[in-house]
Amino acid sequence: MASTFTSNDDTSLFNFVVKDGNGVKGLVDSGLTEVPSRYIQPPHHRINKELAAESLANMTIDLSELDGPNHDQVAKAITHAAETLGFFQVVNHGVPLELLDSLKAAAHKFFAQPAEKKAVYLKGVSPSPVVKYGTSFVPEKEKALEWKDYVSMTYTNDADALEFWPSECKDVALEYLKTSTEMVKKLLQTLIENLGVKFNDSRLEELVGFRMVNMNFYPTCPNPELTVGVGRHSDMGTLTMLLQDGIGGLYVKKGENASPEDEEWIEIPPIDGALVINVGDTLQILSNGRYKSAEHRVRTTSTESRVSVPIFNAPSPVVKIGPLAELVARDGMARYRKVIFQEYMNNFFANSHDGKKSLDFASA
Ligand code: OGA
Ligand code: NI
Repeated sequence: MASTFTSNDDTSLFNFVVKDGNGVKGLVDSGLTEVPSRYIQPPHHRINKELAAESLANMTIDLSELDGPNHDQVAKAITHAAETLGFFQVVNHGVPLELLDSLKAAAHKFFAQPAEKKAVYLKGVSPSPVVKYGTSFVPEKEKALEWKDYVSMTYTNDADALEFWPSECKDVALEYLKTSTEMVKKLLQTLIENLGVKFNDSRLEELVGFRMVNMNFYPTCPNPELTVGVGRHSDMGTLTMLLQDGIGGLYVKKGENASPEDEEWIEIPPIDGALVINVGDTLQILSNGRYKSAEHRVRTTSTESRVSVPIFNAPSPVVKIGPLAELVARDGMARYRKVIFQEYMNNFFANSHDGKKSLDFASA
């Protein structure tokens, strides 16, 4: 039974979109012609398309060369990107290209279902903690909601994934995870090595001990200039790997300290067959600030719905994260305190997106 809403009534809107699981998709399907006030962002959070003219077309790294004679050059390109923008794209990454198409199709298929099919995975009723469907980020806490629905699939083991992940996407999501793990570990190893630190395989494994595949759905929006798909934020883990479709709209902030008036945002252009990689908070913490957890956000469009499929790679929840001892010794100071990753994650998911505020939880 679909609930009704009137766009002037905040409570019925919230119930319709969030509690009953209709999502932004349900709102759009109900035929609205302008965004409800609950979705209107304050001016400094809106995304002005003109401001973000620069595009990162030449930051694409060919990973097939990482094992060849050009290893040093490629490793340098990876570390340079992680030290500056915190974002880059990779090709020849080992994830089959047909799989990338299947993933986008599966995302569209999942979200095209009627609300009651998706609502079974809502927080509080989902049959397992390894799957969660929802909308926005933390709707209960957000003044302005994000124009996005999502389904999150946490990997614990194959059996859980196959039993609990939605049947529309479980096979492709699992294959995506399996075919990308080695590549992500290799990138992490390259980044750790560049810090002059040796990691054995079990320490490396710890850094990707928690992995979650998300499917994001950004429906068309009647007022893209007033809304955001995802608000400004950084990711919590070590490295995020993301598949985007051809629509575009993912922006990364250049530089850390620009004042709001001087901020520059660069678009990560869609490149067919490429995957986007970005540094998360954990890697900034481990590297004592050398690698930059990139602040990013997503614009909405009025023409076509967009999907993206990130894998968030993060440490096992029981692991204590903090700046690597070798770097603290070298730098003469720790820029962050040690925290148990579970606590970092709890704080991350308890607050609405607000730039890089998430890192304050670990400030020394
Ligand atoms: C995210 C995110 C970007 C995108 O899910 O954390 O930043 O392009 N997504 O969907
Ligand atoms: Ni993100």
